[in-house]
Amino acid sequence: MNGRAFSRRAFLAGSVALAPVARALAQARAQAPDPHIEDLLRQMTLEEKAAQLTIFRSPTASAAINPQGPHEPTREEALADAGRGMAAGYFNGFDPAFNRALQQRAVEDSRLRIPLIFAGDVIHGLKTTFPIPLAEAASFDPELCRRTARASAEEASALGLHWTFAPMVDIARDERWGRVMEGAGEDPWLGARIAAARVRGFQGDDLRAENSLLACPKHFAGYGGVEGGMEYNSVEISETALRQVHLPPFEAAFAAGALTTMTGFNDVAGVPSTADRHLLTEILREEWRFPGLVVSDFQSVRELIPHGFAADEEDAVLKAFTAGCDVALSDDIYVRHLPALVRDGRLAEAALDQSVRRMLRLKKAIGLFENPYRSLDPGRAAKAARRPEALALARETARKSIVLLKNENNLLPLPKTGKSLAFIGPFVSDKDQTLGNWSLNGMPELAVSLEEGVRAALSSDARCTFTPGCAAESEIPGGIEAAVQAAREADIAVLYLGETGKMSGESAATTSIVIPHCQQALAEAVAATGRPLVVILKHGRALALQGAARDAPAVLCSWFLGSESGRALADIVFGDFAPQGRLPVSFPRAPGQEPFYYDHRPTGRPQIGDVTDFTARYREVANEPLFAFGHGLTFSVLDYGETKLSAPRLSRDGALKISARIVNRGGRAAHEVAQLYIHRRVAAITQPVRQLKGVQHVALAPGETKEVVFELRPSDLAYVQPDLSMRADAGLFDIWIAPSAVGGQKASFSLD
Ligand code: NOJ
Repeated sequence: MNGRAFSRRAFLAGSVALAPVARALAQARAQAPDPHIEDLLRQMTLEEKAAQLTIFRSPTASAAINPQGPHEPTREEALADAGRGMAAGYFNGFDPAFNRALQQRAVEDSRLRIPLIFAGDVIHGLKTTFPIPLAEAASFDPELCRRTARASAEEASALGLHWTFAPMVDIARDERWGRVMEGAGEDPWLGARIAAARVRGFQGDDLRAENSLLACPKHFAGYGGVEGGMEYNSVEISETALRQVHLPPFEAAFAAGALTTMTGFNDVAGVPSTADRHLLTEILREEWRFPGLVVSDFQSVRELIPHGFAADEEDAVLKAFTAGCDVALSDDIYVRHLPALVRDGRLAEAALDQSVRRMLRLKKAIGLFENPYRSLDPGRAAKAARRPEALALARETARKSIVLLKNENNLLPLPKTGKSLAFIGPFVSDKDQTLGNWSLNGMPELAVSLEEGVRAALSSDARCTFTPGCAAESEIPGGIEAAVQAAREADIAVLYLGETGKMSGESAATTSIVIPHCQQALAEAVAATGRPLVVILKHGRALALQGAARDAPAVLCSWFLGSESGRALADIVFGDFAPQGRLPVSFPRAPGQEPFYYDHRPTGRPQIGDVTDFTARYREVANEPLFAFGHGLTFSVLDYGETKLSAPRLSRDGALKISARIVNRGGRAAHEVAQLYIHRRVAAITQPVRQLKGVQHVALAPGETKEVVFELRPSDLAYVQPDLSMRADAGLFDIWIAPSAVGGQKASFSLD
């Protein structure tokens, strides 16, 4: 059967739709002064103003996430501060009753009755934990990311929050960086669409609604470029790379209605982002006309001192504030220095007022002045937590996040009956590592382990065993022997290997993105039994797979899948759901290839064919990825036909249609994720070998053929010019419709 792929779920180049909140944003830009806010500003002391530019860590926050800072109020101090109007709000306190008590002090006792705002790191759900953001990005489905953000907002707002410090939209190109797990991967096009979707999901249609959560795209900007992937390190990126790679997700997030952003711990070319006037004022305010609020990262104003950018606290405050950082996070440094700087005449009070105005407008935009107790109903917390719909969405998202990397001889899916199965590895029965990093308020004890998921999928007399073999990072006495024995006694062995939650995330950079040694040894021993081997990977970044973990006939990439982990894995392993995930990060052949990403520039000596000498390559491994960006198999066999163009030339006011036929040659239904890539052959600044420009999801029954059709306009071909403007100039392009960044058939066209 031939047919055109239905494209309701398609998202094409340039089609980031404006949400209603984006319209509100546009109105905010045009907004006349608010008389109520102006009146408050007239009454506020300098100290009260500085306090409105300070968000403290909640005394109820977990110490595991944020290190102890110099000013961490106790419960009593926080209540007293709130009653004196001496804080704008608190973060990471997931306790609606305490937040409500603080709010009551603020609006009943404080002189000006300005309500508090409550923020938190809601990164991939809370009590219902969704897959880590990188996993979710593997769905290549922004609408799914919108839905999980919406569900997260439901729970977070019931736990007393108004504002999440998410999404993290940093484009990460070095997998040694631990925070790869928090973002949408290496590609700016995909990253921008997912950033916008997450903002829409968190915020919903009405910012004043009880269940709306303000978004805070972070970290502005360039944090994903930390050198060597080392956490908190310096960033050395060109202005071109900044604008072409790192800024697009922020622009998309702001266009979707985000009203806040957070700076980073990094510097860019020697200027810490928290005090970077070019970023925070020239780009954000002057070029983009961002009307919202800039918040520092955790004590990153103070960190200007160890950075070597500020001499002392006062200097740090002056530099951060005048560069454009409105709010200091988790630190009383603004409270202690801003008033004196104004009194000394070193800072204009009007500048202070402008930042306070932004904070008060934000509070007004979410309805806090009218209803200070919005989202602070302790009765809602229990009802909103782990609702069946949210858990069903967690399972749906988890299985859509799993990527089938390899499947020789159709080893997967495994039969539910007739074969005995040995599940081996440190995570087979584990619950603690199911959620992954940044799972604040997650409930690992209620998460579904692989063993539970498998047992629930099989009948009670199914023959399966679960043997850890080793701990995540150490051997256990007799572990390997027991695992080998279990594999020998089974028809098929399934290894579940990889990282613990703490091995990725903030402060979890690594020198080598490999499976821990003890697990690799376990894999080799189990592989040596000769049993057919399936490898399931648990990880927060791309891994450089070695030995048995790489050579196994079937390999699944499964990240950290959240609350419904085990059930989602069983859905895929036993074929109740066909895999459809795609890699949002390239898998290298060796760890030393990092930073490793598909949209690199061509170089003057690209390796072509078998010629290896004097070409851009490493001695030991091929340049091609082990598994490419965009790669992901289905249980069926799909063929891509020729990439066809509606015309060989694209005119300035025209549109080009690009199409290809995809045939499902296998015997199973498949969900294909067709990708559109371009390469501009010659440019004033050399352009990547490929760039993603479109994605379409296509359902194909066995034997079915469908045509996917993409459309490109000249604006989709714009790139950062030497004068830093974004323009598409005339030129020749190669173009592919492909199943990944390395496949597909090439066509060419010119832009007039
Ligand atoms: C530091 C992290 O960099 C940031 O992303 C987070 O929002 C803050 N800590 C607050 O927890």
